[in-house]
Amino acid sequence: MRTNIREWSLLASAVVLLVSPCVCRAQITEYQQHQWLRMESHIGNLTGHARAAEMDYRRYCVGCHGELGDGNGENAPWVDPKPRDFELAIFKCRSTPTGTLPTDEDLFNSIARGLDRSNMPQWSTFTKQMRADLVAWVKHFSPRWQTEKPGTPIQIPPEPEVTADRIKDGQAVFQKVECWKCHGVTGKANGPSAATLTDDQNRPISAYDFTEGARPKCGDTDQDLYRIFMTGLDGTPMPSFADNIKPDEAWDLVFYLRTLEPQKSKEKEIAKQLGLKPVAPSTAPAAAPPQ
Ligand code: HEC
Ligand code: HEC
Repeated sequence: MRTNIREWSLLASAVVLLVSPCVCRAQITEYQQHQWLRMESHIGNLTGHARAAEMDYRRYCVGCHGELGDGNGENAPWVDPKPRDFELAIFKCRSTPTGTLPTDEDLFNSIARGLDRSNMPQWSTFTKQMRADLVAWVKHFSPRWQTEKPGTPIQIPPEPEVTADRIKDGQAVFQKVECWKCHGVTGKANGPSAATLTDDQNRPISAYDFTEGARPKCGDTDQDLYRIFMTGLDGTPMPSFADNIKPDEAWDLVFYLRTLEPQKSKEKEIAKQLGLKPVAPSTAPAAAPPQ
């Protein structure tokens, strides 16, 4: 009798396991699927069509992102960080505020740029039309695009002139909003929180090491850096600082970040002349009160 119960419960759990993916998929009706496949993308005067990307997706993307776009392609077990699950529609590289959908152009740019420090390749040889179609295909995997609109891209004021004062102010911002907690006082990704960081799926993740000279995932122009910390990398512990950093301070911070990188730059030159030293948080002078 005992074994019988055990067998039954085993059988029951096997049935649940077998049935649950079907339950999931069954929630998407044929009508919905048809609607989703009509997904478009709009980049400048280009229009992308999801259906037109089906073959390209199978050929170039499915090995990592999977047939269902859930990030479970056959290479996924060997890839770290894991391929993105497009069903969630959570993206790192956005011009839009944290928590909102990216613009079609954001996805279009990410596909061409690739994501450095990950297995996501650069697809810069694709034609613009191919990329636009792929953007629509990526979007068709998530119901979010049926009900939500992309966020409004953040405003980036014109870049001011780099000065010694701006670099010093940028360092004060770095201390005040505690970038060092994860990125470390010298930018070496060794802050007190660095070892315990996990992403939204509870997978360990490391902060970006400024001293390595690697290209950030979401681009390496001054505007890209500004955008990265003002929108955050959704799905990761890298937050958005839009509520804590004023636009003018944001530029100061961009200039200071440049001094942490190994590459030669005007900012690095000025920091050297200033004799700028990383400030340990415990000895840091109180940040200037906001004006
Ligand atoms: C070799 C594996 C691999 C292949 C092939 C691949 N990707 Fe990725 N992709 C990844 C990984 C890994 C990530 C997540 C990187 C990260 O989170 O840092 C990713 C992330 C993305 C993102 C999210 C970007 C963001 O801002 O969060 C998009 C969009 C994307 N891939 C599109 C594509 C498309 C389109 C193709 C095919 C043309 C493709 N990928 C092929 C591995 C791959
Ligand atoms: C709670 C921890 C944490 C704090 C605080 C934090 N970051 Fe990050 N940051 C991260 C993590 C984790 C990543 C890596 C994300 C990834 O690779 O997907 C990251 C990545 C970055 C990147 C590279 C993004 C890219 O596209 O690859 C930059 C630049 C950056 N952070 C700047 C900052 C600045 C500036 C501050 C302070 C205003 C800051 N961070 C505060 C955790 C943090």
